[in-house]
Formats: sequence, structure tokens, C-alpha cells
Amino acid sequence: MEKITIAIDGYSSTGKSTIAKQLAKALNYIYVDTGAMYRAVTLYAMRNGFVSENACDVEALIASLQDIELRFVYNDAAGFAEMYLNDENVEREIRTMEVSKLVSKVATIENVRQKLVAIQQKMGLEKGIVMDGRDIGTVVFPNAELKIFMTASPEKRATRRYKELLDKGEEVKYSEVLKNVEHRDYVDSHREISPLRKAGDAIVFDNSDMGLEDQFSRILDFANRVINKQ
Ligand code: DC
Repeated sequence: MEKITIAIDGYSSTGKSTIAKQLAKALNYIYVDTGAMYRAVTLYAMRNGFVSENACDVEALIASLQDIELRFVYNDAAGFAEMYLNDENVEREIRTMEVSKLVSKVATIENVRQKLVAIQQKMGLEKGIVMDGRDIGTVVFPNAELKIFMTASPEKRATRRYKELLDKGEEVKYSEVLKNVEHRDYVDSHREISPLRKAGDAIVFDNSDMGLEDQFSRILDFANRVINKQ
């Protein structure tokens, strides 16, 4: 059977990665979380003092881009690929609220996007890939055979994210998480380069009132229909 490329885009905390991960597993495809790549570059920028709440030294970060090596390494026990930044497993650290607050700044930098898009396109050369992000169906793989655009109300998304962070032992307030979700929505969809927008041929998928199992079976069904047509 022909393998296809599946692009899953959408707002933050819509559960894109959970579904994309499950879908890749069911189809025996590669899964790539592009948000993790922007988060890893942000972590690098934070550690080197290039980005903070009040400032972003774009030039210094661009000059250091060549020193950033990103890699996904499959973790058998976890059942998914973890993000490595210059040979260090940063999977946990990139998910903290601190990184979430700064990542939009780094993701607006054109040279950062160029570097990451090139890596992502290389990963997809062989097809058989599920990639999630903001610009996958519009910029990275405009010819993807299946494009899904995930959305849900900001309150539902903030509630999910809040629970996730509490489970991880982070001390956060719901109001802070909601503010972050709304802020990222705004920045992601208003930035000049590759703003978050639905590709013309993407299927809009609102999962505000849908459980995980239901979402997964519907999306697997979309995928199988496209695969069977190839
Ligand atoms: O999916 P996520 O929340 O982990 O993504 C983190 C940030 O990275 C998000 O605020 C937007 C940015 N991002 C992007 O600009 N383009 C992508 N393809 C993926 C993520």
C-alpha cells in the first residue's frame, strides 16, 4: 500500500500531538512533533541568555543556529520519540511553562523557521509520516495527502493543559494557563511569517466536546479512506 503524508495543524493544546502519535503508531508511520523543535531552540536561547520575558537578541540567536543540533530518539518505554538538543534529552524541560511563555518569540524568527522547515521536509522525504505543528499543511508539506486542522475553545484547551501541568507537578494557576493559550493563539495567527492558518484543503476538526477515542477513530477513518484511494 502507498504511504502518505499526514499534516496536523491547529491551535496550541488542542491535543494534536496525542492524536498524531496514536495515528502514527496505528499506521506504522513516523511521528514528528514540530512544536518540540521550536521549544528546543527556545530552551537553547534561554540557556544562553538570548531570550527572556522582556527581550530577544535575534542576531545572537541567528549567529548560534549552526551550533544547535536537533534529533528525535525513539524511547521504547515511553512509546514515542523524545527531543534531543545537542545530544541531551530535553523532552521534559521543553514542556515547562517557562518555555511555553517564550516560544512564540523564537518561532517568529525567519531564520529559525527556515532551519526547522528544512529539517522537517527532509524527514518527510520517504512519506509514511504524521507531522503536527502550525504550518505543516501550508508551508512544510503543501502537497500532503491528508491535512487536518484541529481546533477547540480556549477554555477547553486551557483546562486540558492545566491538568497536564498539575500532573507533572508544576505549580500554575488556571488563569495563567488560559492567558498563555490565548496569547499564543494571537501570536501564532498574527505573525508575519508562516502564521497559523487553515490550508484550503484541510479538514477542520473541532474536538471541544469529543473524547480521545472518538477523535482517534474519526481521524484514523479519514486516513484510511485516503490511503485506500492511493
Ligand atoms: O505545539 P506546541 O504548543 O508545542 O508548539 C510550541 C510553539 O511553537 C507554539 O507556540 C507555536 C510554535 N510552532 C510553530 O510556530 N510552528 C510549528 N510548526 C510548530 C510550533
